[in-house]
Amino acid sequence: MKKILITGGAGYIGSHTCVELLNAGRDLVIIDNFSNSKPEVLDNIRKITGKDFVFYEMDYSDRDKLQKVFEENDIDSVINFAGYKAVGESVEKPIEYYTNNVSGALVLLDTMRKYNVKKFVFSSSATVYGDPEVVPITEDAKVGGTTNPYGTTKYVIELILKDLYKSDNTWDIVILRYFNPVGAHESGLIGENPQGIPNNLMPYIAQVASGKLEKLSVFGNDYDTKDGTGVRDYIHVVDLAKGHVRAIEKADKEGNGLYIYNLGTGVGYSVLDMVNAFEKANNIEVPYKIAPRRAGDIATCYADPTKAENEIGFKAEKNLEDMCKDTWNFQKKLIK
Ligand code: UD1
Repeated sequence: MKKILITGGAGYIGSHTCVELLNAGRDLVIIDNFSNSKPEVLDNIRKITGKDFVFYEMDYSDRDKLQKVFEENDIDSVINFAGYKAVGESVEKPIEYYTNNVSGALVLLDTMRKYNVKKFVFSSSATVYGDPEVVPITEDAKVGGTTNPYGTTKYVIELILKDLYKSDNTWDIVILRYFNPVGAHESGLIGENPQGIPNNLMPYIAQVASGKLEKLSVFGNDYDTKDGTGVRDYIHVVDLAKGHVRAIEKADKEGNGLYIYNLGTGVGYSVLDMVNAFEKANNIEVPYKIAPRRAGDIATCYADPTKAENEIGFKAEKNLEDMCKDTWNFQKKLIK
């Protein structure tokens, strides 16, 4: 049977997507170098699904090894999750970010072309919209106002994909622009476990709740939002994962096109909404203080998710309470 190649399949979004694809009966080849994930994740994917897959520990940018993967497996599509994703680190290490994310994607695409595999789903980000002029954000909003190398790698890869499709319209390319993925699998077996101090809000809240960190710093309460704190479109990672199943189905069925979809809920919550929801859902306190704004942050960002619903039948189903409960369920298992 034809297999889907998943790069970065042991990572946060990759692992949840592998679970949903295996549950949907797809065969997978996963590659990961564990640069920001752990081998146990693979066992947990097997535990959750009761299914197995082919795995290679390797860099996705290693051309020789990648060719071997294509030689040894009957691959007909690729989902690319591999890539660095820490905004702050990308400012410190632009060469590493451009090399791994952009050069890596080029090696992958070139290898796909060599083996005549032309279905590609790419993990992009709402970060490509920069500071949006209008919310909710539709897919035809202006892109490119990125403010850090991480964001720029996503934007540049989108440009590469558009040029690639222009040059050869027998490709099927689906670009998914994620809003803010949070939560974990309901089993608590896989989730987000950032190394060091978390940059993102939800992992930070979870570590404050667990006592690992003392207090959340709320970055600014003077934005032009309902309570002054930043507003984002948080989407449960399992919903996001299901969006990839829909995207692959689109590429399978439709054939030949370049499609771009926002994956969000269409609802914006503030930082204080998130703190309150987490406290209420889990009956636990999350101490916080108001701190200065974080450089590069914007006031409000949320998706117009209509296009994904109309064209690939994707609609986020889980609510804020699910996001908070599942985050905590996973975090509690880490403490033990
Ligand atoms: C960030 C990245 C974005 C990336 C996304 C990945 C920046 C500027 N943007 O988005 O490029 O695609 O992560 O998930 O880093 N907050 C606090 N205290 C904290 C952490 C966050 O108040 O300790 C606030 C932020 O100011 C923001 C909201 O929580 O208003 C969400 O922050 P975060 O989870 O970092 O996501 P984004 O900034 O939206």
